[in-house]
Amino acid sequence: MRKKLIAGNWKMHLVPVEARALVEGIRHEIDRDAATLAKDRDVLVAPPGILIPAVAQALAGSSILLGAQNMHYEDKGAFTGELSAPMLQAYGVTHVIVGHSERRHIFHETDELINRKVLAALHHRMTPILCVGETQDEHDGGRALDIVLGQLQRGLKGVGDDHVTTVAIAYEPVWAIGTGRTATPEQAEVIHGAIRGAILERCGRERADAVRIIYGGSVNDESVDSLVSRPDIDGALVGGASLKADSFARIVRARTR
Ligand code: 13P
Repeated sequence: MRKKLIAGNWKMHLVPVEARALVEGIRHEIDRDAATLAKDRDVLVAPPGILIPAVAQALAGSSILLGAQNMHYEDKGAFTGELSAPMLQAYGVTHVIVGHSERRHIFHETDELINRKVLAALHHRMTPILCVGETQDEHDGGRALDIVLGQLQRGLKGVGDDHVTTVAIAYEPVWAIGTGRTATPEQAEVIHGAIRGAILERCGRERADAVRIIYGGSVNDESVDSLVSRPDIDGALVGGASLKADSFARIVRARTR
């Protein structure tokens, strides 16, 4: 059985005192049930890079995992403003979001760059959360599957079959991000099924069954149950609703079947 992954992407929000309060709030809500929840789901928060040390401290002793929102593919060097895998790992970061649509569209990240980051994360035994998703125009033009499967294939280039199941795929339709327009569970299932189909073709049934494909885009405490209880939707990548302890805790407790 695939474990669900419920991840909060804090994007560029919060200062240290707020971040600590948010983690404390989430822990207050879920720590007592942590053992039960941990049976079928992983919980992760991905704060802005500068907040990682404070959040790592606030998470001490908790089963909540720590993720980064981005990283460079080199370990070190003249890359002003960037963070590397070893730097993140020094603070206990185990997961990294790669190729988020905001990185693709605002910062012009290409599939090739994203692929390098995926490979770097795997090289360092981190879990890349590879984001794919079509824009509104691509969606309207009936090109969603083409776009998503193309991003998937290019993002996973050179990833060995044994490592494919370490990657988590996040389907985040761009038109659903921050808009309040969640994809319906039916819409998401079609894409998730196609992603799993592509993995199956690439490296067989066993691995296709093991890879986690999560959904992101306006997930909130009302929509989460109907999404993550679908067989092919293995969790959620949550933006806005992950910034409030009570709503994120409610999302973490989602009904998963
Ligand atoms: P929202 O949940 O705010 O739509 O953001 C989704 C997202 O981009 C998560 O990575």
